[in-house]
Amino acid sequence: MSQLPKNFYWGGSVSSFQTEGAWNEGGKGLSIYDVRPTPAGHADWKVAIDEYHRYKEDIALMKQMHFNFYRFSIAWSRIIPNGDDDVNEEGVAFYNRLIDELIANGITPMITLVHFDMPYKLVKEYNGFASRYVVDLFERYARVCMERFGDRVKHWMSFNEQNLHSMRLIYSNAEVVPEGISEPAFLYQVAHNVMIAHCKAVKALRELVPDAKFGGMTTITNYYPATTTPQNNLFVQKANNLMNMWVTHVHAKGSYPSYYTHYLKERGWYPHFEEGDEELLKNTCDYLCFSYYRSNTLTEGEFDMTTPFADIVEKHVIKNPHLEATEWGWEKDAKGLRYVMNDLYERYGMPIFILENGMGARESLDENEEIHDDYRIKYHQEHIEEMKKAIIEDGVECLGYITWGPIDIPSSSCEVAKRYGFVYVNRTDSELLDLRRIPKKSFYWIAQVFGSNGENL
Ligand code: BG6
Repeated sequence: MSQLPKNFYWGGSVSSFQTEGAWNEGGKGLSIYDVRPTPAGHADWKVAIDEYHRYKEDIALMKQMHFNFYRFSIAWSRIIPNGDDDVNEEGVAFYNRLIDELIANGITPMITLVHFDMPYKLVKEYNGFASRYVVDLFERYARVCMERFGDRVKHWMSFNEQNLHSMRLIYSNAEVVPEGISEPAFLYQVAHNVMIAHCKAVKALRELVPDAKFGGMTTITNYYPATTTPQNNLFVQKANNLMNMWVTHVHAKGSYPSYYTHYLKERGWYPHFEEGDEELLKNTCDYLCFSYYRSNTLTEGEFDMTTPFADIVEKHVIKNPHLEATEWGWEKDAKGLRYVMNDLYERYGMPIFILENGMGARESLDENEEIHDDYRIKYHQEHIEEMKKAIIEDGVECLGYITWGPIDIPSSSCEVAKRYGFVYVNRTDSELLDLRRIPKKSFYWIAQVFGSNGENL
């Protein structure tokens, strides 16, 4: 093979809360993101980039960039406003319009069922995915989406970056650690509930839309040892398994990996299984999706995390002298992408799919209303080059390269100033302005790359 396959997917990925706005329109219920405070100086989620009203204009821009794939998430609170009430037909109609418009423009849609958000009532009354009742409500929601959209949507995902659920409670929207249980034990129980919810969605898709594909998704930060000591290498191996890979293992093989069960059992954190859970885990995925932005270099130590995410980030990450970082400290590492692609493919032997990649930058229009984002062009160019090497030289089977936030959207903490897009959206954290879309220099470059199936880099 000297070129990428002809049916290779190119496109963009977004979440509902970072794009849609219209937080109280069209019968939508209150979502956790409508009430969760954002950091000082950041915007709120109420308008985002007003995709609810501007999707046609944005899809036209995607077409100009030669997208053939678009991954978006559904706002659960737009379909079932409070999580446990009737289906909101206006919400269904919105996603029908969006899906039809994508297909009419030659863009294959992919649905993420939960990208961090959920109806606020489920957080307040049931402590999010800490409750198995919420798992049942999620299954009902997933089935509604599959019944309504499955005739046209053939690519599905359950939870965005599912491994985050074992790192921080906030991602599962469980807010309170009940008395009598340690925080890690609770965290891993919630992560198990989320895994069961995921498996129920896979099972439902097999029944309701048998010709559709289900992707399991993780976020992967490539880890390097800071030193050449064997202990440092062991530490990195454990971090990679317990932070990145355990979820993917279940998606691919249908059971928890031994390193995970052993680690949790040793510490008394192994989750409670309900009858039938073991069987449910066997609902494996069709391909393995991941987001990739950066690598981290880790110092050594004994791997004994009580609050996994914080322990790694705050105690072990050091600056890598060989890599440049974004203003937010994310170290850009294109070769790391090739490494991760090989690692994933060798471990599981299943097709993989890059669902998010990109870099955040602070930008404003110059006197000619232009943005010359050569740094973004360089970032994507290097990542696509390394991806091509993984596919063409190393033989990795990869379905596509999907960029994050192709039309500027607020960051995950609602920081409008952190922009990822090829298209500038005219708003700031403090002012909505006119939300006008203005193509950046990278817009024309990416159009040429996607339009040539990755040849004109
Ligand atoms: C991923 C999430 O973790 O990274 C997105 O799926 C998020 O929701 C993206 O926006 C980039 O992170 P951030 O914090 O820079 O927006």
